[in-house]
Amino acid sequence: MSTTSIVSNAARAAGASPTPEPQVTVLDTGGQYCHLITRKIRELGVYAEIRPSETPAAELSGRKAIVISGGPCSVYEPGSPTVDPAIFSTGAAVLGICYGQQLMAHLLGGTVTKGDRGEYGLAYLEVREQSPLFRGVDHPQKIWMSHRDTVGALPDGFRLLASTETCGTAAIADPERRLYGVQFHPEVVHTECGREILTNFLFGISGCQHDWNPKHRISLIEDQIREVAGGRNVFFFVSGGVDSTVAYTLCLRALGPERVRGLYVDTGLMREGETPYVRQLFASLGATNFSVEDARERFLSALSGVHEPERKRNIIGEKFVEVQDEILQTEHFLDGHWILGQGTIYPDTIESGGSAKADLIKTHHNRVAGIQRLIESNRIIEPLSLFYKDEVREIGRELGIPAEFLERHPFPGPGLAIRCLCSQQPAALQRVDDGWIVPVHSVGVQGDSRTYRPILLLDASRGWEEDYSRATRLINASADFNRVVVQPRAKDLGGFRVFCTDLSDDRLERLRRADDIVRRLCRESGFDREVWQFPVVLIPLGTETAPDSVVLRPVHSVDGMTAQSVPMPQALLDRMCEDLLRVPGVCTVLYDLTHKPPGTIEWE
Ligand code: XMP
Repeated sequence: MSTTSIVSNAARAAGASPTPEPQVTVLDTGGQYCHLITRKIRELGVYAEIRPSETPAAELSGRKAIVISGGPCSVYEPGSPTVDPAIFSTGAAVLGICYGQQLMAHLLGGTVTKGDRGEYGLAYLEVREQSPLFRGVDHPQKIWMSHRDTVGALPDGFRLLASTETCGTAAIADPERRLYGVQFHPEVVHTECGREILTNFLFGISGCQHDWNPKHRISLIEDQIREVAGGRNVFFFVSGGVDSTVAYTLCLRALGPERVRGLYVDTGLMREGETPYVRQLFASLGATNFSVEDARERFLSALSGVHEPERKRNIIGEKFVEVQDEILQTEHFLDGHWILGQGTIYPDTIESGGSAKADLIKTHHNRVAGIQRLIESNRIIEPLSLFYKDEVREIGRELGIPAEFLERHPFPGPGLAIRCLCSQQPAALQRVDDGWIVPVHSVGVQGDSRTYRPILLLDASRGWEEDYSRATRLINASADFNRVVVQPRAKDLGGFRVFCTDLSDDRLERLRRADDIVRRLCRESGFDREVWQFPVVLIPLGTETAPDSVVLRPVHSVDGMTAQSVPMPQALLDRMCEDLLRVPGVCTVLYDLTHKPPGTIEWE
């Protein structure tokens, strides 16, 4: 998909847009922080968009500010991203961040020094020269660095604004031309003065005005939906997730319930009570044209006998495509009176360096063949394609969608299938110095590569602090496992083994019950508000009469890219273990101590 969204093209052609002309463009040089910069600017009340780094300066006329993002490349690498040098003389103020600063220095006649080793993490900023960029910023200041190269000689007209112990050119500027560069990342939370620096750049230096509050955009989004739809009706595949529900509700308000149809595909891989919950939610939103497609048998029979995680994912993806395509082939979609609505949000429409995961998710929902045909024939509407998740939630709140729904933890498209682990052959546990190697393989991530390895089960718990530090130390020292777990209720592992299993109805039901218990206790205790996500995983470790174990995986995260395992209050954990051990077939409860990296959030 191109970097511009489908809805904004259609809407701009129709003369309506739910967003103002951007005052700020963030040029994407492939960095994972590009979306973060844009989100932070919008949080400060200024509408900002992302464009590819090479966008011609002529297309950016009227911008008050241009930000060049950080990226993984070096300016000297052949083919590394660049910008149109004319952006430095459009009259817009420019802020280069990390690679953006280096690129600016390089293009304007300075030099960039190649770093042999990276420099990542916290550093202390010393301001060398007062500047509007650092107004109100005390120093030394904690900042976040993530780079290899640094700027050496400054271009003509530039001055040094700040440095750190390890980086001589932590901030530079040509104040006359309003060109600024920082080597650190003001957009990340670890840079404590990041918000002030961005505020200074936007309002003090660039002269931006407040023009952005997503809540105030609702009536414009509705106008746009009416324009794009024209006389046609809208059909949605809803998932029970926040994005498709908010997009659906906006269409409902804009067009009325008669003209908006929702269909929920029940894959049989959902949590306890999910289908009735979604039905009831849509009824409460005023949807009268809503139905459920029961595809449980189709998904489950296709998954029978399958063990390998990627194979599970592929089968689920293919089945989704099949079901969606079949529905899109029905007469409704051939007569031209219907268009397809989707809950696509902004990060899904921009293919930047950090969105590999989005690509995977999109295969299921946004890019099936039938949908591609609709895109090509202008029969698709994506009302939220210019908004970020937090903005979608804010719109949802304004629309009166229950807060408890909007704050739900993320849940993966392939559902419980990736939390119900399978094993191709029976195997015994292996005793090692620090515990047991459990030969159930799960997915992890190290560097940029996927790992698929057994688990280390620690011999005994010695309290959270020591368990976490042992886990980190052991995992760094061994390639034999990629996760470390502990047994909160010690059970003798002598008779335990790993069974050969696939995704049977019984096991899915067992996992559904365990997940339901955990969710209920988390809700009642308020612990669900303290974590970002809480997968409950079933693994084929146990005894003949109780062949499975439940793994608890509560994590903190900002966007799922990295995550930290979170300890749980002891009383809650005790209660949880007690209830889980009553589920027939569950042998023991394990607690995942692994952060991401080296583990992923899901076990697969
Ligand atoms: P991992 O396991 O890669 O997960 O650390 C990161 C985040 O992505 C979610 N996830 C998915 N979400 N479809 C989705 O909608 C998927 O196929 C999918 N796979 C993983 C996961 O739950 C976590 O929040």
